[in-house]
Amino acid sequence: MTAVSLSTSAANALRADAVVVAVAKGPKGLVLAPGAETVDEAFDGKLADVLSTLGATGAEGEAVKLPAPVGVKAGLVLAVGLGDAAEDGAYGAETLRRASGVAARTLHGSKKAAFALPTADAASVEAVALGALLGAYAFTAFRGEAAMATAKAPLAEVSLVGGKRDKAAKAGVERAVVLAEEMNRTRDLINTPPNDLFPKSFADIVTVAGKEHGLKVEVLDEKALAKGGYGGILGVGVGSARPPRLVKVAYTHPKAKQTLAFVGKGITYDSGGISLKPAGHNETMKCDMSGAAAVFAAVVAASRLGLQVNVTGWLALAENMPSGSATRPGDVLKMYGGKTVEVLNTDAEGRLVLADAIVRAGEEKPDAIVDVATLTGAMVMALGTRTFGIMANEDEFRDKVLAAATAAGEQAWPMPLPADLRKGMESPTADIANMGERMGGGLVAGLFLQEFVAEGTAWAHLDIAGPAFHEGSPFGYTPKGGTGSAVRTLVQLAEQAAAGTL
Ligand code: BES
Ligand code: MN
Ligand code: ZN
Repeated sequence: MTAVSLSTSAANALRADAVVVAVAKGPKGLVLAPGAETVDEAFDGKLADVLSTLGATGAEGEAVKLPAPVGVKAGLVLAVGLGDAAEDGAYGAETLRRASGVAARTLHGSKKAAFALPTADAASVEAVALGALLGAYAFTAFRGEAAMATAKAPLAEVSLVGGKRDKAAKAGVERAVVLAEEMNRTRDLINTPPNDLFPKSFADIVTVAGKEHGLKVEVLDEKALAKGGYGGILGVGVGSARPPRLVKVAYTHPKAKQTLAFVGKGITYDSGGISLKPAGHNETMKCDMSGAAAVFAAVVAASRLGLQVNVTGWLALAENMPSGSATRPGDVLKMYGGKTVEVLNTDAEGRLVLADAIVRAGEEKPDAIVDVATLTGAMVMALGTRTFGIMANEDEFRDKVLAAATAAGEQAWPMPLPADLRKGMESPTADIANMGERMGGGLVAGLFLQEFVAEGTAWAHLDIAGPAFHEGSPFGYTPKGGTGSAVRTLVQLAEQAAAGTL
């Protein structure tokens, strides 16, 4: 990954391929953001005019390159837009992360850059560092040698110049490195093609990482799942040549006062099963393990940050495939814990694997359970592709999770669990059906999961089907493909639990 350091050099004085400054949209046109002062001096105070002449406005996402003048040691000046100018020159963390991400992406192929973005406090330092590390991400594991020989490499080195250099700033950079590496770990897992990442290979990756980070990892294979009565995970995985797994990955702190359980949907490929998805709906379904990847990465992050809390991750891993051995619409599954489910649509598989894992997680009496899943197309319809939905069995807990997501810089929105939608899932044969009314499908899925949460346990459900996988052009620090959605929210929740404020 890209290396980030704090430098005491002035922005104009650092030898680098490029120096990055930020600009914004003022009431009377483009203005320079704090950090750009020494570079502006080298332009005789005319940098804003020069950029305006080139057509720059300071809009969010804008990136304008110009040759550096005498007096700037870097070869190139890159101006990135922040959007509307802040009166006090203080920009929000997400604004800085995005602008920094744009800069790192634009400088793909360069070796070293000086980032002279506004970094007056430690939170801004962290935001700029995180944006750069996330923006520089590239997934090249499956490119051929010939393509790699000619490809540009990600920006190798970022020096943050001109800002705070105290202990808090250093800690901010360290936290950014952990968050970025763990989000990029999540992205790598999501982007890995499903013929390479399947339940067993995913479980093996967790086992290896567990050793590296002092985590306790337990893997239930198909035999252990059958013995334990995990009918949901088995029923989804039984059509595949690659059998399912349930992985428990636990971080414990000796002084922890609270335990959080994170449950992740880990469908390594969702074909829909016998209720096969049509072409046009299956091309990106390697992303259906994004929840499990986020949970895994968040547990590793909690360990790397040494948080004073216990965090247990439960990864429900299966491949949803049609075959002669696959679960049929009409089959009844006996879930872990004993409830029976009539499978009316094998494409509503996420709730089946999650139900087993939620019941299992609940047995250990955690202080809260948070599940993360690319669960429904209905949630994408409701909230679009950049916002995840939050549902919960207690409004107060839902609001806390929403606040954590917002503080972490992730777009999220609260969704209800209306009791009237439960009757649509009544089954003439089993305790419940895995499908209900089509309208409000995201909430129906949430209500299904709620049935498997132990009485008295706080539970929240994050439906990340929209933001987990980005199909459009890159923006801010978000690349095409896996995004790392929910990782920061989970880490934020773990930090709040550690601080006793959750
Ligand atoms: N994995 C899909 C949901 C999904 C859709 C994720 C789009 C990412 C992007 C899920 O398993 C699914 O197929 N859900 C069905 C449920 C329906 C059959 C009740 C859906 O949303 O159509
Ligand atoms: Mn499905
Ligand atoms: Zn799915």
